[in-house]
Amino acid sequence: MNVYDGERISELLTDNGLAAAADGEEADLVVLNTCHIREKAAEKAYSDIGRLKREDGSRPMIALAGCVAQAEGAEAKRRSAMIDMVVGPQAYHRLPDMVAEASRGGRPVDTGMPAISKFDALPRRRRANPSAFLTVQEGCDKFCTYCVVPYTRGAEISRPRADIVAEAQALVEAGAKEIVLLGQNVNAWEHEGSGLANLIREIARIDGLERIRYTTSHPADMTDALIAAHGEVEKLMPYLHLPVQSGSDRILKAMNRSHTTESYLRTIEKMRVSRPDVAISGDFIVGFPGETEEDFEATLRIVDAVGYAAAYSFKYSARPGTPAAMMEDQIAPEIMDGRLQRLQARIAATQLAFNRSTAGLDTKVLIERPGRRPGQMIGRSPWLQSVHVETSAGPGAMLGVTLTAAGPNSMTGALRQKDAA
Ligand code: 5AD
Ligand code: SF4
Repeated sequence: MNVYDGERISELLTDNGLAAAADGEEADLVVLNTCHIREKAAEKAYSDIGRLKREDGSRPMIALAGCVAQAEGAEAKRRSAMIDMVVGPQAYHRLPDMVAEASRGGRPVDTGMPAISKFDALPRRRRANPSAFLTVQEGCDKFCTYCVVPYTRGAEISRPRADIVAEAQALVEAGAKEIVLLGQNVNAWEHEGSGLANLIREIARIDGLERIRYTTSHPADMTDALIAAHGEVEKLMPYLHLPVQSGSDRILKAMNRSHTTESYLRTIEKMRVSRPDVAISGDFIVGFPGETEEDFEATLRIVDAVGYAAAYSFKYSARPGTPAAMMEDQIAPEIMDGRLQRLQARIAATQLAFNRSTAGLDTKVLIERPGRRPGQMIGRSPWLQSVHVETSAGPGAMLGVTLTAAGPNSMTGALRQKDAA
């Protein structure tokens, strides 16, 4: 979502007379779009700011944007004298005005969550990657006890259907072949009684659009209609990112996750009935307060039970203002380190097994960028695997490829004869 916001900020500033600085060129203005989800991400914002000071003591104008800006507001200006502007994720459409104010010597702060959507104030999309992000829903009402998102991104809101379809159309006209619908709780998207499954069906009608994905889904909002769409909408890719966080029901309850391991596994089972080849990915937190060795072993078991094709795993990070930060039995860092390593080894094993299960398949690869070797390009399979292919085709090409070899983190592919250049 921050990548999406960054693209929108860059388009907005470009429309207001600024130009992107080339790599290595000194910028007059730096916008740091920050993340507050874990302490490490938040601290990075301040160390990045420190590095913007130049040898002669001068510095660019600096805007702190994103969720660290939202969480800290005017306090951020006190923490660093180098910050000229502080702008939250719901207010960044105001950046051109704020830059003008900062040029006059002001230090504006805007962490408002206005009733009128920032989206209405942003320019039409004119550039798009082959795989383009599109935010359809923001904020979260779930209040998992460890998570800052409900505070930094605010309450759950869905963008209107017509606005999303118009943006999707513009992205396709600008060259997108794949659209990734984004939301903190994307599967809770709802507009005029219609849910994400209907939105996907509508977007699938756009000519020239070949693939649709969405992320991130909450297990409690995984409707039968959305599951059914995976079996029926050809453009909807066989991939589901469905964070479970823990394999222990006791911990899930303390996390206020509103699903159990059983309900989660049942959802995965239904997905596999609807779309047998679906790849499942997830998120995990190790070391939530009170997590015992037994709880953790249950997490290892759910990794095997699901057979994740990919997964992100994190050490629990106490976030200011969240209920879990106040809980007793905070887990020691060394214990978290050990559990994270064991979990990641288990995930690596299921990921490799998944990759091996796709070796030999004939499939389509959407080329995204050049690889390391000359003549090599990297694209994505329907299951979101990175695929290395020798081809002269450029980004945006959809190629028929045979997956010839499986690695731990990527696949090798060979052009199928009729597609070979
Ligand atoms: N500590 C560690 N990981 C967290 N996440 C969210 N909040 C925290 C936290 N306080 C993880 C969850 C979520 C992902 C985006 O980040 O796994 O799904
Ligand atoms: Fe955070 Fe996701 Fe829970 Fe919302 S559902 S509080 S975004 S972890």
